[in-house]
Amino acid sequence: MIFGKRVRLRGVEKKDIEQFVVWLNDPDVRNNLLIYWPMTLWEEEEWFEGLKKRESAEKPLAIEVNTPDGWQLIGNSGFHQVDWKNSSAEVGIFIGDKDYWNQGYGSDAMRLLLKYGFNSLNLNRIYLHVFDTNPRAIRAYEKVGFVHEGRLRQDIFLNGSYVDVLMMSVLRSEWTTEK
Ligand SMILES: CC(C)(COP(=O)(O)OP(=O)(O)OC[C@H]1O[C@@H](n2cnc3c(N)ncnc32)[C@H](O)[C@@H]1OP(=O)(O)O)[C@@H](O)C(=O)NCCC(=O)NCCS
Repeated sequence: MIFGKRVRLRGVEKKDIEQFVVWLNDPDVRNNLLIYWPMTLWEEEEWFEGLKKRESAEKPLAIEVNTPDGWQLIGNSGFHQVDWKNSSAEVGIFIGDKDYWNQGYGSDAMRLLLKYGFNSLNLNRIYLHVFDTNPRAIRAYEKVGFVHEGRLRQDIFLNGSYVDVLMMSVLRSEWTTEK
């Protein structure tokens, strides 16, 4: 497990996926992700079965917070498109439990992902895509050091309009644990 001060990242277990389906069907969550069709439990079960074949660095990491009642699942995260030749990877995150939004948990989890990506996976560039309609996520990423590097104009059709998608990244040379 990867421990931070308030959150920890652990491997996803089968028992998590029922909760993921609930969260991924919440429009407030889903409208910020590439999911555009109602999610079913069997699809999530297929996704989970597929994880066994993925290389370790691309396996998802459940996000848990430390509460008085113990560790509580609040979301999911992980690296994709890991490119060992060029030492880069895309990172993704969602906090499904909206009670935990805007309290710094997303940026805490992202700090841990950056630390793990640079210090353990030996990545040089960690990047992400975020919808222009998602100021909370953009702010969370800026806080931990992501730099704006591009705009894919009208890349996504979402709720009746085309939305720009922003590209952001952090390089190992500019990454600091102070952020
Ligand atoms: C995006 C997400 C991971 C961020 O996690 P979080 O714990 O809510 O974020 P944090 O509390 O760390 O930071 C959010 C920041 O955005 C700010 N914010 C919130 N709403 C905002 C708005 N409408 N405009 C500008 N800033 C906003 C908060 O004030 C906070 O900044 P601050 O610490 O300077 O005050 C989480 O909200 C989430 O998973 N949302 C749904 C799915 C999603 O969007 N995933 C990301 C896809 S790219």
